[in-house]
Amino acid sequence: MTRLVVVGTDTDVGKTVLAAGLTAALGASYWKPVQAGLDDGTDSERVQQLAELPDERILSEVYRLTSPLSPHRAAEIDGIDIDTERLSPPRTDSPMVIEAAGGLLVPLTRKDLFADVIAGWHLPVVLVGRTALGAINHALLSIEALRSRSIDIVGIAFVGEKIADTQATIVEMGNVRALGRLPVLNPLTPEALRQAFARSFNLDDFHV
Ligand SMILES: Nc1ncnc2c1ncn2[C@@H]1O[C@H](COP(=O)(O)OP(=O)(O)OP(=O)(O)O)[C@@H](O)[C@H]1O
Ligand SMILES: [Mg+2]
Repeated sequence: MTRLVVVGTDTDVGKTVLAAGLTAALGASYWKPVQAGLDDGTDSERVQQLAELPDERILSEVYRLTSPLSPHRAAEIDGIDIDTERLSPPRTDSPMVIEAAGGLLVPLTRKDLFADVIAGWHLPVVLVGRTALGAINHALLSIEALRSRSIDIVGIAFVGEKIADTQATIVEMGNVRALGRLPVLNPLTPEALRQAFARSFNLDDFHV
């Protein structure tokens, strides 16, 4: 059964929106193992709303941390010790989309980086990156971090305006597959996302 990890080149790049589109298109369940920041709504709530999912297709977070900070610090503030052994992806009868927190090298504890935990899952990742200025550096650094841990990269999904040279440069120099580009949607509704995802991506590219 397909299980994909959605990782980002940075925080706020559009992982949750991309994951919602992908979860809906695959008929998958969604899992955000570590949520840092609860006041502005959680990623699970956003995905449930954007992908119009029933409760049973949203798996519970393992850690729900109060502060919108790097998980290692948010956990310390809440007095929680994150045990990375508890973060193994559950098995489900449906495909699963898993969303990481922030960028790849965010610490979960003062010893563990999220990327090292993902490497232990032996699951392929979809890298989400911006197209705006700075995107090439962030994407190529992320690809290096993934390759150095032998993590399989399904490809890169861009979010933002089309910037053809930036996208092509990342694909060529990073030697990754371009999965497509989700444009900026205004308004961002379940229907607009469903349509844009279908236009922008070929679902077969995600079946690995
Ligand atoms: N295609 C899009 N169209 C319009 N708005 C978008 C799009 N993608 C992302 N956004 C908006 O940009 C912001 C950041 O996106 P998102 O929450 O998906 O990022 P993220 O990478 O999941 O961040 P985090 O690291 O906090 O999990 C949100 O306000 C989201 O609604
Ligand atoms: Mg998110």
